[in-house]
Amino acid sequence: MPLISPSLLASDFANLQSEVEMINNSTADWFHVDVMDGSFVPNISFGLPSVKAVAKHATKPLDVHLMIVNPDQYIKAFKAAGAAYLTVHYEACTHLHRTIQAIKAEGMRAGVALNPHTPVNVLEEVINDLDLVLIMSVNPGFGGQSFIEAAIEKTRKLKALITEKGANTLIEIDGGVNTETGARLVEAGADALVAGSFVFKSENPAATIADLKAL
Ligand code: DX5
Ligand code: ZN
Repeated sequence: MPLISPSLLASDFANLQSEVEMINNSTADWFHVDVMDGSFVPNISFGLPSVKAVAKHATKPLDVHLMIVNPDQYIKAFKAAGAAYLTVHYEACTHLHRTIQAIKAEGMRAGVALNPHTPVNVLEEVINDLDLVLIMSVNPGFGGQSFIEAAIEKTRKLKALITEKGANTLIEIDGGVNTETGARLVEAGADALVAGSFVFKSENPAATIADLKAL
């Protein structure tokens, strides 16, 4: 049974509180919150005040995915806003080791996201420090894109690296996840699945979350 992290990016922002409550009352495990800066990715989503507003109503941990340059600058602020997991992009961090330690020093779980072109072996030296690795199965920036098949093999490679290093790191996959791709990802070793449009564009989001949870 994978952990399920519905992505609020696909939710109805004008009814955020009821969307949050739907997730509270579902079998979801986390809230996936996508923060974009219009610089690291060609889109802008929501920022700190919105994360804080979600945290006020959420009864499950906030899994915050930072698609921003200079994430180090905002680590304390995201802790204050209510993040439980804070994930930064490998491609946005020159001093990744330091960034990971800074996230953990704030009492959050540390995650690193990999763009589709970034191989998993770049994490070899830090994998034992990581609580989570987020494999992007689309190019970050937008919901509703189609799944990049190579993410399956990448999940297998990451699982092998984690096992080899004896690490205690969760594998989470983000982008184009539905019950079909989700089942294959779980089989390949994924521990957590992010799903945006598949959940929120469905007729019954809570039932869709339950379908993913049952994989
Ligand atoms: C994309 C975001 C995703 C997005 C996924 O940059 O990181 O979390 O919401 O959306 P779907 O599930 O629709 O591909
Ligand atoms: Zn995301």
